[in-house]
Amino acid sequence: MSIKGKTIGFLGAGNMAEALIKGLLKTGIISADSISASDVRLDRLEQLRSLYGVHTLSDNAHLVKRVDVVILAVKPQIVAPVLREVASEVTPEKLVISLAAGVSTATLRALLPKGVRLIRTMPNTPALVLEGATAIARSDGLKPGDAETAREIFEAVGKVAVLEEELLDAVTGLSGSGPAYVALVIEALADGGVKMGLDRATAMTLAAQTVLGSAKLLLETGAHPGQLKDMVTSPGGTAITGIAALEEGGVRRTLINAVERATLRSRELGRAGGEDKKA
Ligand SMILES: NC(=O)c1ccc[n+]([C@@H]2O[C@H](COP(=O)([O-])OP(=O)(O)OC[C@H]3O[C@@H](n4cnc5c(N)ncnc54)[C@H](OP(=O)(O)O)[C@@H]3O)[C@@H](O)[C@H]2O)c1
Repeated sequence: MSIKGKTIGFLGAGNMAEALIKGLLKTGIISADSISASDVRLDRLEQLRSLYGVHTLSDNAHLVKRVDVVILAVKPQIVAPVLREVASEVTPEKLVISLAAGVSTATLRALLPKGVRLIRTMPNTPALVLEGATAIARSDGLKPGDAETAREIFEAVGKVAVLEEELLDAVTGLSGSGPAYVALVIEALADGGVKMGLDRATAMTLAAQTVLGSAKLLLETGAHPGQLKDMVTSPGGTAITGIAALEEGGVRRTLINAVERATLRSRELGRAGGEDKKA
């Protein structure tokens, strides 16, 4: 099943809904006429309607009734009341895709009628600039093509991995929390530049663009990070001197530990039902 020819509805018209609407319209696979959004904030609905030409509604149940694919895009702590409100409209003909961080498919299923076709996802903040990394978790009861439909939707805002649900904690520890790690690295690189005499604005631009460009080079060439490192390091040169300092500081071990600890914290929060504190 492709998203082409289908209608999509967003329950909650916040940042993530807007990112997906923007991305989908940019790909051209779906027209504004096939997209609807509902929200409690009428000013926000008006804004999305005038910016993107999508349909807007203040009634969540009505939104679910009129679309083929429902994207649950409210904050995790609002998920339960919103699903209770729309449950009677969620028929097996509809595909429900949840963005809610840390809310398991078991929790979602308990709030919805039997036979629901459900996909849970873990996007990240760069989706807001159409450079997201999203993991999609398959679950029981999907129709052939459902995971592909979800993939198509999230590829509009970046890269997608389709995984089993138990791996979503690791995804939260890596790409979900990762924008915070990278922000810290960029800030620290810029601090180094300022320490050595660059002005703050220049240092920040150079640091952020270096991270962006290096990531793009790896993704576009498919090269191993070690190859990129070797391309930049000449014998007795500056880059190898900088790398020796990074290794002295245990940069690899520290980043591995960061992903591991964030993953364990995600599991812990999931068990405690603390979904609202994720990522
Ligand atoms: N942003 C990210 O980078 C990111 C990353 C990973 C996962 N996610 C997940 O994506 C989901 C959406 O996040 P977001 O950042 O887009 O949140 P957001 O910007 O707060 O958007 C949620 C929208 O839903 C509205 N809302 C509140 N109660 C509602 C109700 N009963 N019915 C309909 N709409 C209602 C909110 O209005 P009010 O503002 O008035 O409450 C807000 O406009 C969350 O579950 C989050 O865990 C987001």
